[in-house]
Amino acid sequence: MQWTSAADIRQKFLNFFARHDHRILPSSSLVPKDDPTLLFTNAGMVQFKDVFTGKETLPFRRATTAQKCVRAGGKHNDLENVGKTARHHTFFEMLGNFSFQDYFKREAIAFAWEFLTVDLGLPRDQLWATIYQDDDEAHDLWVELTDIPSERIVRMGEKDNFWAMGDTGPCGPCSEIVIDRGPEHSCGRPDCALHTCGCDRWLELWNLVFMQFERSADGTLTPLPKPSIDTGMGLERIASVLQGVDSNFDTDLFAPIIEAVEQLTGRRYERGEAGFPFRVIADHIRACTFLIADGVFPSNEFRGYVLRRILRRAVRFGRLLGVDRPFLYELVPVVGRIMGGAYPEVVERADYVMQVVRQEEERFHRTLNQGMTLLDEVIRRTRAEGRNTIAGEDAFMLYDTYGFPLDLTIDAAEEHGLDVDREGFDRAMAKQRERARQAREDDYDPADAALVEALEGVPATEFVGYDHLSAEARVLAVVRVDAGAAGGAAGGAAGGAVLRLDEAGTEDGRIALVLDRTPFYGEGGGQVGDTGVIRGAGGGDAGAAAGGEAEFEFQVEDTRRFFGGRLLHWGRVTRGRVRPGMTAQAAVDAPRRHDVMRNHTATHLLHKALKVVLGDHANQAGSLVAPDRLRFDFTHFEALTPEQLQRIEDLVNQQVLAGTDVQWYETSLKEAREAGAMALFGEKYGEQVRVVRIGDFSLELCGGTHVPNTGRIGLFKIVSEGSVGSGIRRIEAVTGRSALAYVRSVEERLQQAADRLRTTPSELPERVGEVMARQRELERELERLRARQASGLVDELAARAEKVDGAAVVVARVPDAGPDALRQLTDGLRQRLGSALVVLGSSGDGRVHFVAAATPDLVARGVHAGKILGEVARAAGGGGGGRPDMAQAGGRDPARLDQALDLARRLAAEALRAHQSTP
Ligand code: ALA
Repeated sequence: MQWTSAADIRQKFLNFFARHDHRILPSSSLVPKDDPTLLFTNAGMVQFKDVFTGKETLPFRRATTAQKCVRAGGKHNDLENVGKTARHHTFFEMLGNFSFQDYFKREAIAFAWEFLTVDLGLPRDQLWATIYQDDDEAHDLWVELTDIPSERIVRMGEKDNFWAMGDTGPCGPCSEIVIDRGPEHSCGRPDCALHTCGCDRWLELWNLVFMQFERSADGTLTPLPKPSIDTGMGLERIASVLQGVDSNFDTDLFAPIIEAVEQLTGRRYERGEAGFPFRVIADHIRACTFLIADGVFPSNEFRGYVLRRILRRAVRFGRLLGVDRPFLYELVPVVGRIMGGAYPEVVERADYVMQVVRQEEERFHRTLNQGMTLLDEVIRRTRAEGRNTIAGEDAFMLYDTYGFPLDLTIDAAEEHGLDVDREGFDRAMAKQRERARQAREDDYDPADAALVEALEGVPATEFVGYDHLSAEARVLAVVRVDAGAAGGAAGGAAGGAVLRLDEAGTEDGRIALVLDRTPFYGEGGGQVGDTGVIRGAGGGDAGAAAGGEAEFEFQVEDTRRFFGGRLLHWGRVTRGRVRPGMTAQAAVDAPRRHDVMRNHTATHLLHKALKVVLGDHANQAGSLVAPDRLRFDFTHFEALTPEQLQRIEDLVNQQVLAGTDVQWYETSLKEAREAGAMALFGEKYGEQVRVVRIGDFSLELCGGTHVPNTGRIGLFKIVSEGSVGSGIRRIEAVTGRSALAYVRSVEERLQQAADRLRTTPSELPERVGEVMARQRELERELERLRARQASGLVDELAARAEKVDGAAVVVARVPDAGPDALRQLTDGLRQRLGSALVVLGSSGDGRVHFVAAATPDLVARGVHAGKILGEVARAAGGGGGGRPDMAQAGGRDPARLDQALDLARRLAAEALRAHQSTP
């Protein structure tokens, strides 16, 4: 057995199976394709799931991979053990060979034996096998094909030796190869043996799954068309064996990361308990790097939440090492150096990954700083009350309000010898979910309870507006809200009394009509509610369409969905009287709705284009589809470059120009997802969902209204891009008429600018360049003139200097100069005159400015410019002063400026005489 690097082991494995006619395939993404039930790819066979069941066929029957896997959350969850043991990981690599209805147990066992003992040179006498309890066939094959005697073959139960990917899917009995690392690694218990002990002596190396069944949701096992083989060997483990180390963390897959953590924290790594934080960090940064590179973004939902937990756990262990600033992101390049050869994406996307990690670190440090205090308080209170378990509600409050993942609270509690009531936490969580669900389902403000009551017994409205903009309908109810301002979820009620009216006219002001059917779209999914008009032609069957004078006209200002599937048309009666029971013609404002539909279809195109240009992480975070513009918020870390914006705009417009048909239909959620529809995970969609398909370009769950063909969009133009909170960007864009208006307004402004510069828009840039060059020239000219003027003024003032005891005294009023100009003049005078005391004053904008200065020789004699100026400024109604050599002051009374300067002259002469030069 020879020391072999992990990279070499990986390569030897793939080469070995390639030699045996296996196709080497790349690892699939950590985000399972088309499988919203599985959190992360957790085994090599995941990408072949449908091949095993026969749903899909490949042009080859043998494959081998090194697969990136994450086991955190869900069925296979190792998170809490990571770092405590030598071998648990959130992220790991699984080496696997697969037979798709090709070879079975015999070859699988023979291949594994040959690779381990010949290619890797493991000691034959230390290898054991486990088999499923009654799998005599496997037993006999081990005996026949390998050097493992019957005594080293151990029969195990379903828990250990029956493997399943998840609750459903392909599965089968399995057989594992175990290495006995010798009694010195034993836990020391007298009954320490392979089948009873999970201690470090017995290391499971390789799992061979004999795929024979498919488990369905009700638990029944159906035999597969033909048996197959799925195997998995953890690279980290086999590396530890070949590198002769006790822990996976001592292999070349982890050691460089741990060294980097040492450098960044200034602490030394120790094996054993003290090294716990190092191991957690080394493990977690691998998972985070790979997950983010595969498009997972930290969030509070589904995959993003698991990533957030892992990352935040690493942050907290960093704090245990004394680091309370972001540093994990600096480990990303280290992971890249170790893993980039096999998985280039972690190098290619390193910059992005670093930014995401860093931002999450920063955010969590802030959260922790706030929450830590609170956690301490909870711990203190728990103890003070003599309990040793932190209440579930407390843990939930920390989670819900302060963003503390539960396992962090558990870790912290453990440090204080406390427990956490996890069931209580789950109960609190469930309660909150229920509240949230209620709020969502009801979709009305509790303040609208009165409205709910008023509409008691009114059936749901049939929406016919996907295909019609006008429809005949019957008025079912008329309601008016009497007090409170407009607004609220129902678009009109805000807690006031609600009246169900038998009749309403213009005098009733803002009211709502409920019809039995309507083409009016009620605000939802980002799309605004429709406006338009409802005209009635009296009771009975004579509709407005029949011709006669409409008995009422109702202007719809907004349409909102309401509890119980009813649509409320909010607006005012403008003519006649409306009564329940009347038939009416409901007509949506068609041009406006067409604008909205253009923007809605454009929003879907934009969503997809963002994913193409920026990556899969660019997920919808909110949207507004209005007639005049669309607004789309999405997850992305940094500002988009002009080139990216252009590419996005181009992609959308390509679809517009292609004139692609837009289709919408209802289907089951399952089928929609299988077709790859973009949907926000965690959102609650009913069983039947509506899907909007734009050619092959976009497929989204959506209940909104769309143009039948992308050509109707006319033109798509992005008008702004910016940030709306960390990790979320916003794009605003226009289409159709608004795009035309936008182009026109840009054109108009260009024309105005061109007119002012007496040129044409096409020559504008050149002309602006000229004007700016001219301006720079003039500025320089002005500067020269100012300098000349200032030096002329200095000459003039110097000429007026009086001599007092050998020193020059200049006290003068300077027209229109601010403090800066005065200071410059003073400096000029000091230089020109050699030995001088200067006081300059000026008035402007109702204020007086003074500057005084004395040359060093005078200061040495005891003259103090600041003291003199203090008195002078007071004489002009102000104050100030300064150092002996330089002072500045202001006054409020320009009328007393001359008087103050007279005083200055007197004080200057006095000062010079009082501090005579010593001859
Ligand atoms: N799929 C099998 C496992 O994960 C090989 O153990």
